[in-house]
Formats: sequence, structure tokens, C-alpha cells
Amino acid sequence: MPRSFSRFVCQQCGRVSASYMGKCPQCNAFNSMVEEIVADEAPSRSVASKAGVVTRSKPQKIGDITSSAEKRIQVPIGEFSRVLGGGIVPGSLVLIGGDPGIGKSTLMLQMTLEVSRGARTLYVTGEESEQQIKMRADRLLAAGTAFPDSLMIVNETSMPVIMNHIRDVQPQVIIIDSIQTVYDADFDSSAGSVTQVRECSSQLRELAKSQNISVFLIGHVTKEGVIAGPRVLEHIVDTVLYLEGDRYQSFRLLRSVKNRFGTTAEVGVFEMAGTGLREVTNPSEAFLAERLFNAPGSSIAVTVEGTRPLLVEVQGLTSAAQFGNARRTPNGVDYNRLLMLSAVITRRLGLKMIEQDIFVNVVGGIKIDEPAADLAIVMAIVSSYRDIPLQADTVFIGEIGLAGELRMPAQLSIRLKEAQKLGFRKAIIPQSNLAGENPPKGLEVIKVRSLYQAIEKAFESTGK
Ligand code: TYD
Ligand code: MG
Repeated sequence: MPRSFSRFVCQQCGRVSASYMGKCPQCNAFNSMVEEIVADEAPSRSVASKAGVVTRSKPQKIGDITSSAEKRIQVPIGEFSRVLGGGIVPGSLVLIGGDPGIGKSTLMLQMTLEVSRGARTLYVTGEESEQQIKMRADRLLAAGTAFPDSLMIVNETSMPVIMNHIRDVQPQVIIIDSIQTVYDADFDSSAGSVTQVRECSSQLRELAKSQNISVFLIGHVTKEGVIAGPRVLEHIVDTVLYLEGDRYQSFRLLRSVKNRFGTTAEVGVFEMAGTGLREVTNPSEAFLAERLFNAPGSSIAVTVEGTRPLLVEVQGLTSAAQFGNARRTPNGVDYNRLLMLSAVITRRLGLKMIEQDIFVNVVGGIKIDEPAADLAIVMAIVSSYRDIPLQADTVFIGEIGLAGELRMPAQLSIRLKEAQKLGFRKAIIPQSNLAGENPPKGLEVIKVRSLYQAIEKAFESTGK
């Protein structure tokens, strides 16, 4: 006779407590504790070992263990494949997180339409009907292409039934859209709760590992992890990818934040079009496409996402503060970083930012969290404040310290190469005592020690 008991689980970080708490002691979130009723089951492992059915693990020589690296399932979508670390690893569990409506289902369906030409695939949808998926697939599939025979779609949310389907279909790749909709009736809490998400994911993980099936879990999760957060799932899965971008703009970034089978911090760039997500193979060009030349308050930063350099336009605008309380409004840049940079401008350049509202915008819905963009951000602000455009063929690279000194970012040479490739002629970068880099041909590299010098160099040739 199974007993049940009640417990409280933080919806943000998964912390479990016997009693209700207004503030989670682990992640300090308020009102995040939700009551769950848990059926008290007998620990299955002890029963199994008593019956003598536990399969024993056996230590092996490392040289004898076959590596599965070569056997990846190839994905013909280059941007997606690269973020995964070069194709799908059999037996891997991948979480695709992102805001609702950002394009997760679209991306996964596009991927399955391609992959299922070589591997049997089961797409489990708990959110949309089979007909809705078919309608979307009609849009995504290139005209004149036939649907692959080995792609199966089912609308189902019950975990045991899904397991039955998996047994029948014998797929190599499974998509669960989304993990928040599936539930196992053995656990007495609602679909989408921390318990259900964790239990269902664990079952899928067992399945993936024991039968060498690759499982993709779609999760409506943001980085902050508000709904049954990624922190609950992140340690269960092998790979965590986030699809992000501004819903009202077309660019989407697929970012890997954890990957047991590849380099982390890899980024793929897509554009949402009428026929699904299109790969953007030259993102820097795309991000700079709508740039206004000779407009004050615009500068070019070179950031590196994973192994790939990205040129982005940073816009700054200053305007006299109205009520004596100057505001700082960043879009795509960290708020505290902007506060710090504004203070450095005031103190180290002597420009009175205290009387100015400052707006900063990174074009294309991109978020920059790299300090290497500091110099470009400050240049955009100062250019707007002085109402003098920066030279259109110059890029700015460098982290700014509190004393107004410039610091060298990592991977300088690939940044310079990308700038040169896109036709830029000048780069203002930090002076470093380390051995000098060989700048690419045709790119003039100007080395400066401080923000003050950088401003002098940037504006000297404008003659103002
Ligand atoms: P969807 O994949 O359903 O988002 P998620 O699964 O992350 O919730 O994407 C929904 C959005 O994508 C919707 O606003 C419409 C848009 N979209 C296109 O612009 N073009 C397309 O070809 C498709 C399929 C969707
Ligand atoms: Mg969806």
C-alpha cells in the first residue's frame, strides 16, 4: 500500500523542503515554493539487488573501450551540427531551452525532417496536434521533396504510453515537445512540476543510455529558469542548448551552454523566415546590413561567441536628463556594465554623464556579455554626446578598467581577421606588453593604453 506525503519544491532551483518557506534558502527567490504530493514508493534498487538481477559493472582498460565519436548521426544543418559539436551522439540527452514562441519546435522539426532520411525518428508532441505539425512541416519542406518514411509523429503526454510507442517504433532519435507537457501518473503532481519534469527526464535518460537512442527534450525555460528551471534538468542532460533572440526581430542564436560532446559556448545563427529557420553563415555581414554610415552614436564591436568572431553594431544615444535623475537604458548590454562605463566616462574623460540619459542598443537583438565590447560601447556613447560620427571603417576592441585603462581580450587575432575580411581598415585595440600579433594585411592596428588615448585617436582624423 503506497503512502504519500507532501513536500515543497522551489520552482526555480529545485530545492526541496518539508515545510513551506516564503523565500528559498538556496536561490533566494520569493514565493517560489510549491506544494507537491509524492507517492512514497519502495526503493526499487534494493528490491532488484535482493532478487539478484543487478547487472554488475566491470572495470575495463581505457584502450579497450570503443569511442563512439565517429558514429555521430550527421545533421545537414551546418549551424546546428556545429553547436552540437559535430552531429548527434547516439545515446545522448539534449535539452533545447528558450522562451515560448522563439522557434524551438520549428528548429526541431526542421532537424527531424533531415535526420529521419537516415535514422528512424519519433516526434512526440504534447502541445500541438499531428495535423498542426503536418501543416508546419508542409511549410518547412522544400518544394518537390518527399516526406521521409522513417519520421513518425504522435500526440501524447503520458510517459508510460510514450515508452510503449518507443518500444513499437524503435527509433534512433526521439524529440519530446515539450518536457513540461509529459507526466507519469505514478507521481502525484501535475505536468510541468519539478517532480514530473525530473522523473520523466530521468526515465528518458535511462532509455537513452541503455538503448543508445538520442533524445531531444524541448523545454520552455529561460536562463533565469522560472518554470521548472533548467537547473533541475541541467545535470541530468548531456547537452544544454538555448535558442534566444528578440521575438520581434528575425535573428535567432542557438547557444550551447553545456556540452559533454563538444566545446561549450558555441553559437549558431539563424534567421526566422516564412519557411522556417534559415542558416546565417556570414552573421557579421547580416548584422551590419542596415547600418547608417556617418551617423553619430554608432560603433562596431568585435565579439567572439565560442570560436566564432561576430561584428555587431553598437548604438549609443545621450540626451539631457529631464528630472535631475539620469537614466541608463541598455538593450543587449548588461545594466551594471553600462553603469560602470558611464561612471568611467564621467570620471576619466570628464564628460558630465550625470546630466545625461544614456541609451545603448546592440543591433539585431544580440546580447553581448563580453567585456571586449566595452570600448565600442563607450565610443558609441561619446560619439552621440559630441554629435560627431566615428569613422565608418574602424572597429573598437578592448575591455575598460575602472582607471580608464584598456585591457586585451582573448582571441585577438581572429577578431582582427574577421574585421579585415569584412572590409574594415582600422582597429583600435589595447596596447599590450606581450609579443605583438601579426595584424592581417590591409588592416591598420592602432594600439592605445587608455580610454583617453583611444578617444583622441578615434576623433583626431575626423578633424573635430
Ligand atoms: P515555434 O517553433 O512554435 O516556437 P516554440 O516551439 O519555441 O514555442 O515558433 C513559433 C513562431 O515562429 C511563430 O511566431 C511563427 C514563427 N514561424 C515563422 O516565422 N516561420 C515559419 O516557417 C514557422 C514554422 C514559424
Ligand atoms: Mg513549440
